[in-house]
Amino acid sequence: MRDLNIALIGGGFMGKAHSLAYAAMPMYFWPAPARPVRKVIVDVSEDLARTAADRYGWERHATSWQDVVADPSVDVVDIATPNHLHADIAIAAAEAGKHVICEKPLAPTAADAQRMLEAVQKAGVVHAVAFNYRRTPAVALAKKYVEEGAIGEVLNFRGTYLQDWSADLDSPLSWRFQKAIAGSGAVGDIGSHVVDLARYLVGEVDEVSSLVSRFIHDRPLQSSGFDSLGASRGSDGPRGAVDVDDESITMLRFCDGAVGSIEATRNAWGRNNYITFEIHGTEGTIFFNYERRDELQVAFKADPADRRGFRTVYTGPGTPYGESLWPIPALGIGYSETKIIEAYEIFKAIAEGGSVRPDFADGYQTALVDEAILASGRTGAWTAVDQVEREGR
Ligand SMILES: NC(=O)c1ccc[n+]([C@@H]2O[C@H](COP(=O)([O-])OP(=O)(O)OC[C@H]3O[C@@H](n4cnc5c(N)ncnc54)[C@H](O)[C@@H]3O)[C@@H](O)[C@H]2O)c1
Repeated sequence: MRDLNIALIGGGFMGKAHSLAYAAMPMYFWPAPARPVRKVIVDVSEDLARTAADRYGWERHATSWQDVVADPSVDVVDIATPNHLHADIAIAAAEAGKHVICEKPLAPTAADAQRMLEAVQKAGVVHAVAFNYRRTPAVALAKKYVEEGAIGEVLNFRGTYLQDWSADLDSPLSWRFQKAIAGSGAVGDIGSHVVDLARYLVGEVDEVSSLVSRFIHDRPLQSSGFDSLGASRGSDGPRGAVDVDDESITMLRFCDGAVGSIEATRNAWGRNNYITFEIHGTEGTIFFNYERRDELQVAFKADPADRRGFRTVYTGPGTPYGESLWPIPALGIGYSETKIIEAYEIFKAIAEGGSVRPDFADGYQTALVDEAILASGRTGAWTAVDQVEREGR
């Protein structure tokens, strides 16, 4: 089994999730397509980088992503930093001939995402954007049902991503509220996941009409470099300006004629990681709620009238990825499993010299949908979405 040496840039929330996925991937998927070697982890200070290496099992640590990206022993560069650094790191990594994995959103702007796509295409390396909710087995099962025609022609996609970690007026000024770092607010941070699911399950989005709102205009500054996402620290400290959206409500028209809607907010008290979609087709309906991620609710027109209604399918050995996960349905899929499956798919593509979806073209296309949502929010008009030319499509 081939070793692939990874450099992980960023040892925060996603640094933890990716480290865990690399450690666990061969335990689930055996024989693994390649053995992920946790070679070097990078963070901004010696202390942060060393702690991340010790805690997450990396062979060494560093504080300069530039040095690490140029290191000939590194095969794969994995980017888990705040969004404004994604483009510089990904382009440098591609130019150094490394395969590149990048957290979502691919970049703060579609223009940056386009430059990243061009760089990886020119370098001929494998590229992947980490929209891991596609990897939830129940979501992969929904995709299978749609592709098999189990719900007929898709008419409507209703998606949400609702959270409450920023609903407190005194929730701190994370980088996620700063346009220069994040690019946008709820639209790019969480709405992008639902755009990715809509594209995955239904197809490309042709145009959008959006309401984009900001309700909280300033928040307490953070006292350390740590991102204290969601942790309220009182209202008496100095405050800084929020210059991104809090919430978006979007109507969609898909290129194939289906319609849909997406809502995204991090200010919905009581909602935690409420990613849902309901897909209505001519032959049935599928409903998914990430907070009950082992389940897919399905209803089929073909059922006898006295039995028609939603029923629950639990994911398990008989559903996508199930043979490699747990032997009994509903034992429980967690966030980690979505990242482990993501790592498996990406390492398979690298080991086999192939490609993987979602890739940077998907990340760029999603960024174009996000920009259309933001533009429509400003003008109030239906806004067309530019379409990325996909190689080989
Ligand atoms: N796929 C998902 O479900 C998901 C969830 C959360 C975040 N994300 C994405 O992952 C990325 C990281 O988010 P996070 O939540 O881990 O953020 P975070 O703030 O928890 O961690 C970011 C880390 O990057 C480090 N960093 C900053 N500048 C750096 C530099 N120049 N060199 C090296 N390290 C640097 C920070 O010190 C921090 O440790 C973002 O793009 C975010 O949108 C994805």
